[in-house]
Amino acid sequence: MSSEKFTDREYLRTRQYADDRNLQTRIALHRRFSTNTYGWFQWYLDQVSLPPEARILEVGCGPAALWQDVLPRLPEGWRITLSDLSLGMVRAARANLPAHPPLFQFAVNDAQFLPYPTGHFEAVFANHMLYHVPDLPGTLREIRRVLKPGGYLYAATNGERHMEAIEMFGRAFAREAGVRLEEGFSHRNLRFSLENGAEHLRPYFAHVERRDYPDALEVTEAEPLAAYLLSTTSAVARLNSKQRPGIEEALLAFARQYIAARGGSLYVAKATGLFIARK
Ligand SMILES: C[S@@+](CC[C@H](N)C(=O)[O-])C[C@H]1O[C@@H](n2cnc3c(N)ncnc32)[C@H](O)[C@@H]1O
Repeated sequence: MSSEKFTDREYLRTRQYADDRNLQTRIALHRRFSTNTYGWFQWYLDQVSLPPEARILEVGCGPAALWQDVLPRLPEGWRITLSDLSLGMVRAARANLPAHPPLFQFAVNDAQFLPYPTGHFEAVFANHMLYHVPDLPGTLREIRRVLKPGGYLYAATNGERHMEAIEMFGRAFAREAGVRLEEGFSHRNLRFSLENGAEHLRPYFAHVERRDYPDALEVTEAEPLAAYLLSTTSAVARLNSKQRPGIEEALLAFARQYIAARGGSLYVAKATGLFIARK
């Protein structure tokens, strides 16, 4: 996923994340086929240690899937600002958390330029989004600025081999369909990954810790697998255009065969986790 699209703000804001459909397609695959049944979002909240009264900023909140999942566990004294570059995402987040003021507030903004006072938040959450910001050092400086002394950044990301089996499936289909995949259809050059994240964080934070979430997928159905591929930023995702009639059906048929050839279940190893960085 190292293609330039991955950090292209206009593409991200107006296409990939214009609304929450692409992301929900990918979240659905994880919810349906993950082998670790405890759940990523429950585990994530377990890692968070904040006082019962705390101001929290989430950057790149997406459709607020984290907060939907952990809502009953949230302390009443938390004040959470959910923000995203995409208005469509913020609308989805607001729709998904309708009845909970004053717990949640919503804002459209770019994590690179945060419109908040210095030292304002106990914590900033930046989940699976720091690899999207064009200016990573500038964003980390901004996050550090808005944190109180001793405040925490919680930053989730993926490892270089995250879901490699889906990458291989995509490549196999692209070969069969005669499509050139753009360079970088892979997590290997991720700008902020489990492997390189600590290095990026250390200049700005006094203490940095990495925690991994053990998980995998056992995908037994073709439709969600094909839909996943079509939801990504890869060239395969742009195959469902008018110039390639029948391509979605071809992908679905290919996915069926691909899963059948693996005994009815495609095993997909994940590499995902979280950095906890203290100011
Ligand atoms: C992969 S999604 C993750 C969403 C959510 N944090 C989650 O874990 O489910 C990445 C999100 O980051 C947002 N995003 C991308 N670049 C951003 C930026 N520069 N500032 C704020 N949000 C950004 C996207 O609009 C998208 O909602």
